[in-house]
Amino acid sequence: MLIGVPAETLAGEKRVATVPDAVEKLIKLGFAVAIQSGAGDGANFSDEAYRAAGAEVLPDAASLWAKSDIVFKVRPPSSEEVALMRDGGTLIGFIWPAQNPQLMEQLKAKKATVLAIDCLPRTLSRAQKMDALTSTAGVSGYRAVIEAANAFGRFFNGQITAAGKVPPARVFIAGAGVAGLAAIGTAANLGAVVRANDTRAEVADQVKSLGGEFVKVDYEEEGSGGGGYAKVMSEGFQAAQRQMYATEASNADIIITTALIPGKPAPKLITAEMVQSMKPGSVIVDMAGEQGGNCELTVPGEAVVRHGVTIVGYTDLPSRLAKQSSTLYATNLLRLTEELCKAKDGVAVVNMEDDAIRGLTVAKDGEITWPAPPLKAPPAPAPKAAAAPMPEKKSAHGPGAPMSGKTLSIVFAVLAVLFWAIGAYAPAAFLGHLTVFVLACFIGYMVVWNVTPSLHTPLMSVTNAISSIIAIGALIQIAPPGMGENGRPDTLILWLAFAALVLTGINMFGGFAVTKRMLAMFRK
Ligand code: NAI
Repeated sequence: MLIGVPAETLAGEKRVATVPDAVEKLIKLGFAVAIQSGAGDGANFSDEAYRAAGAEVLPDAASLWAKSDIVFKVRPPSSEEVALMRDGGTLIGFIWPAQNPQLMEQLKAKKATVLAIDCLPRTLSRAQKMDALTSTAGVSGYRAVIEAANAFGRFFNGQITAAGKVPPARVFIAGAGVAGLAAIGTAANLGAVVRANDTRAEVADQVKSLGGEFVKVDYEEEGSGGGGYAKVMSEGFQAAQRQMYATEASNADIIITTALIPGKPAPKLITAEMVQSMKPGSVIVDMAGEQGGNCELTVPGEAVVRHGVTIVGYTDLPSRLAKQSSTLYATNLLRLTEELCKAKDGVAVVNMEDDAIRGLTVAKDGEITWPAPPLKAPPAPAPKAAAAPMPEKKSAHGPGAPMSGKTLSIVFAVLAVLFWAIGAYAPAAFLGHLTVFVLACFIGYMVVWNVTPSLHTPLMSVTNAISSIIAIGALIQIAPPGMGENGRPDTLILWLAFAALVLTGINMFGGFAVTKRMLAMFRK
């Protein structure tokens, strides 16, 4: 099958749906790839680079659409583009079927099969590698901070210079979804003091782990609406939140708003009075412009100055980092193609039994299949046996009761006699080994007990590796005194020792490799 990638037609859109690296991998899956000449120019990928990766470069959109079995796009196609599409072809890209009913009708008339990447069930962990909404929002959150830094007249980090002391910028982030978290991490890395709020209390830890401080609304209400998204909050909550936002706005130098509830207009969180209360030169970046904006004074697609505050309402943040967004998007589409072509024979199969593929297939051979039925809930955990009755308080003499002073002295006396007997009758080396063993148990226990639980897995892998003392035992067995009666090593012992060495080698090197990878996740 031929995968075709046309140039994006929306004014100002610089992204492209595939990149040369991904082209090479698509060809390995058995597909042929064609790209419209100049499609990658905005993202700095030349026709030459695509050709070198094995793609055919076609001169215009008409020939590309006509030839392609599958078309990869970023933005939803215009009606002119759908007209160029071949009957019964496949289209993969952002479609937003709820917002584009007319487009869906046109695609239906073309008997198209359409995979809308925006309809991917995001809660399926298997689908995360294809989640273009997440990769796009991550890029946008980063870019929002860069736009804020560009419009802001000061440093982000605090500095003490010969010319005076500069305080760090104070950044407030409204909404800690994917875009908000990316913005928190970026602003904190630049040295700003970052505070953030979200209606979903479960994100507080994520905000902290990225270097921000979570600001809670003084009102008890759960903000989670299911599927990892928010819900519309009660009037009481909104009033308390407005009060908190008013205080934050008057203290902040920069506000980045990312609050969104799927299928609803963006909540108005920053009022005109709040903007007025900000210091002149402050900046607001409103990422929710396309859904009506989180700030009352946002002009979608533009940067405006109101009451001395720059309000950036750009709706093309991913396109402003076109090379990065295109690379991530191309990888998402490559992973999707791998799922569609498990046989690696260059034929895409849309398997409607697969939850992830079913979710994003919004039309199949001209039949509208959107919206997909809700995902099957995971099987409910088996009901727990009736809670065990609380154990009765043990009698002073029953089993498990703390030992009395007298019993403790008897136990110690017995242990001391045992220790003396071992010392007196056992070989001298045994006592030494026993002492080392007891001390090792004690030290090991104390070390593990004092390590944060989140580091237990890397710790276990490294201790596994270190504890491979078996290797030494095996080496001793291979060399004398593991010799047989005839002066040669006993074959069975030799093979057992060899097997022990191989297995321990895997344990040691594997342990260190796992530890290295895990610790890398904690490093910046
Ligand atoms: P998301 O759905 O993962 O995050 C939205 C967050 O806002 C959620 O954590 C939600 O709990 C929170 N939220 C909802 N109502 C709230 C309220 N009243 N107060 C505080 N928090 C609230 O969405 P994602 O992917 O992070 O995107 C965020 C926004 O950025 C969306 O509006 C999206 O359309 C927009 N976006 C804009 C781009 C641009 O170029 N301007 C590019 C990409 C995304």
